[in-house]
Amino acid sequence: MAIQVEMDGRLFNLHTKDSTYQMVADQHGILLHTWYGKRIDGENLADLIFHADVGFSGNPPEAGENRKYSLDALPQELPSDGVGDYRESCISLVHEDGSMAADFRFESYEILPGAYQVKGMPALYDGAQGADGSMTLVINMRERASKVAVQLLYGVFEEENVITRALRVENRGESDVILEKCLSCCLDFQFGEYDMITFSGRHAMERGFERARIRHARQEVGSRRGTSSHQYNPSVILCGPDATENFGDCYGLCLVYSSNFTASAQMDQRGQTRAVMGIHPEHFSFRLKKGEVFDAPQVILSYSDAGLARLSHQYHKILREHMCRGKYQFARRPVLLNNWEATYFNFNKEKLTALARQAAELGIEMLVLDDGWFGKREDDNSGLGDWFVNEKKLGGTLKELGEEIHALGMKFGLWFEPEMISEDSDLYRAHPDWALTIPGREPNRSRNQLVLDMSREDVREYLFERMTDILEHAPIDYVKWDANRSICDIYSHVYTGDRNGEVYHRFVLGVYDLLEKLLTGFPDLLLEGCSGGGGRFDAAMLYYSPQIWCSDNTDAVNRLSIQYGTSFFYPVSSMGAHVSAVPNHQTGRVTPFTTRGHVALSGSFGYELDINKMTEEEKELVKGQIADFYKYYSLTHEGTYYRLTGLNERFCAWEFVDEEKDHALETLVMTSREGNPLPVHTTVKGLSPEKTYRCSENGHVRSGRTWMNSGLTLSRVPREYESVLIEWTAV
Ligand code: GLA
Repeated sequence: MAIQVEMDGRLFNLHTKDSTYQMVADQHGILLHTWYGKRIDGENLADLIFHADVGFSGNPPEAGENRKYSLDALPQELPSDGVGDYRESCISLVHEDGSMAADFRFESYEILPGAYQVKGMPALYDGAQGADGSMTLVINMRERASKVAVQLLYGVFEEENVITRALRVENRGESDVILEKCLSCCLDFQFGEYDMITFSGRHAMERGFERARIRHARQEVGSRRGTSSHQYNPSVILCGPDATENFGDCYGLCLVYSSNFTASAQMDQRGQTRAVMGIHPEHFSFRLKKGEVFDAPQVILSYSDAGLARLSHQYHKILREHMCRGKYQFARRPVLLNNWEATYFNFNKEKLTALARQAAELGIEMLVLDDGWFGKREDDNSGLGDWFVNEKKLGGTLKELGEEIHALGMKFGLWFEPEMISEDSDLYRAHPDWALTIPGREPNRSRNQLVLDMSREDVREYLFERMTDILEHAPIDYVKWDANRSICDIYSHVYTGDRNGEVYHRFVLGVYDLLEKLLTGFPDLLLEGCSGGGGRFDAAMLYYSPQIWCSDNTDAVNRLSIQYGTSFFYPVSSMGAHVSAVPNHQTGRVTPFTTRGHVALSGSFGYELDINKMTEEEKELVKGQIADFYKYYSLTHEGTYYRLTGLNERFCAWEFVDEEKDHALETLVMTSREGNPLPVHTTVKGLSPEKTYRCSENGHVRSGRTWMNSGLTLSRVPREYESVLIEWTAV
C-alpha cells in the first residue's frame, strides 16, 4: 500500500518503490516529520528524535513542566510562525487584532484515490488511463486559537519515486485573516550534513550548476521578478557531501510555479537542516475573508539513494509523463526554422517564403515567424499589445503566408508576447490602466516595455479575443509564447490597497488561465514557452508547453553548460535547441556546423539562421543532421540520459540509452585542446552488463559489463570544439 496509516490514524507512511516519507501526529497534535529517504517498513521512527532541554528554546503550553519539548527543535511538516519555532516557517498569519501567531495542530486525515489538483495551477496528473494508481493523503490541520484551517496535500507516485506536497489555507472564522507567508513545503533533516545544489545564471547564461555545503547561514535562491527567472531556477537538490552522479543520497525539490519563489536551506543550532520552498513571502500578502481559500503551489519531491543521475531520471520521467500534456507530449515535434536570428525585424512575405522553400528542400518541417509581424513593430520599442497583423510590412495576409508554407508541406508557427505592452501602442493609448504602473510614479521600463495586468479579466479577455482571431484566420500550428522582462511597479487598479500583495500571484494565475483557455480552444496547437530564452523554464510551464526555448544563447559551447544545468530536473525533450550561424550572435565564437548540430540534437531540435546564406556543404550537413535527429530521436527524447562529465573539463560528454538497452549514443564535445594532447577517455553508462555491444568508434565488440567498467579511449583526440557521436549497438 502506497499510503500506510497506523496508530489510530496518527502515523503516516508514504511509500514509493524505493523511498518512504513518514509523519507522526504526536500527543500535542504537532505533525512531526520523522523520515524521508530509503524505503523502510513503516515502524514509528519518532524515537529517532532526541529530546533535550535546549536553552532559549521555549515550550508550548501543553508541554507543562516538560522543558524537553520545544517546537524550536522538532522536525515538522508545517512549521508555523510566531509560536516558538525560530527557524524558517512555512506559514505566517496576521489576525484581526494584529497578532501574528500561527499554531497548527493535527485534526484528521483522508485518503483519496488519484492525484490531487491545485486550483488554478498546474500539478502532476494521473496517467491517461488512470492506471498509474497514484494516491493522495489529505491532512487537516487547525490553528489553535483562530478558525484558520490548513489542508496538507501529499501525492504518492509509487513507481516514479515521487512524493508531492501542496497546501490549502481556509479561513473558517468570521473575521478576516491576512496570510503573510505561505510556503508549500518544509523538509527537516535531523541528522547528517548536506550540500545544496542550485541552478543560477543570467539572461543568455541560464541554470549554471552550483554546489555548496549547508551551514548555519541561510542559503537561499529565489525570484521576485514575477517569473521563475533566468537568475535562479525553482528547483534545488539537497545531497550528502559525498554524493556524485552515481552514488549517495539525493533529494530533489521542484516547485510547480512560474512566479516569485523562495527555496532555502539552513542548519539550526543543533545541526539539523531545514529546507523550505514556496511562493516568495516578499511582495506577498493575501487577505482571506470568511470562507475564502488560498491554494499554494505544488512541490515535487523525489529521493534517490544512487546519486544525481537517478534523481534526474525520476524527474525526467515524472515531468514527461505526468506534467507535459497534449498532442505533442510524446509525438515527435516538427524540426523548425525560426526566422529570429535569420532576419530579426527585417522581413516580409517574400523573404519568409524564400526561407521556407529552402527549408522544405532540406527537410525542415516548420517555419516559425518570430517577433515583428504585428502592429507597429519595426524594432523592440513599440507595438506590443497590438495583436493585429501588419499586412503592409508582410506584403500580404498571414493566411496567405501560412497557406504558402503549408503548400510546401511545412507547418507554420507564430510568436506572441501576450503579457506585455509598449507605451507606443494603440492598446496603451486606449487602456493605460491595463499596464502595471503605480499612479504618481514614472514606470520602470525594461526592453522599453511595460507589463499588462494579467490579474485582470478584461485584459485576459482582450488577449484571448486577439489571439483567437489570429489563430482562427491563419493556418497556425505552433505558438512561441514569450515574456521579455521582469516585473516591478506592482499596482493593480482592481486589487487596490493592501490587496496589491496579491497581484504577483494573481498575475501568474491569469497567465495560466489564458494558456489553459487557448489550449482548450486549440488543442492541437504546439506551444513553446519562452521568456527571453530560459527565464521561465519551470515545471508549471511544461503543463502548457512541452518544449521551452532553453536560452537566447545559441553558442554551442555555452549551450553545453546551459543544457547540462537544465538536465538535472528537466527532460531533454523539453529543451528548445537550435543550430545557428557563426560567428555566434551572442558570443562571436566560431564552432563547426557539425558540433552545433550535435549539441542541438540533444534538445527539441531546430534551426535559427538564414539558410539561404548557407554553403552547399552546409546544406548537405543539414540534411544529415535531420536524418540523425530522426535516427536518434527515440534515444534522445525517450531514452535514459546520463551526464558523463562535469563542467570545466577538456571535453563535455553525455549519453542516451534506450529502454531495452540495445542501443546507446554518446555525444562528446571537445571544449579545449592543447598541443601534444592527452588522450580522451570516456566512461560508458547504462548498458546491460549481460549484453554484448559493438562500439561505432573502434568497431570493438565487448560485453556491456566490460564497456561500463573499462570505458573507451578515443582513437584520435578531437580538435577544439569538434564533436563526435559514438554508438553502442547490441549484437
Ligand atoms: C526573446 C526570445 C527570442 C526572440 C526575441 C524576439 O528574446 O527569447 O528568441 O523571440 O525575444 O523579440
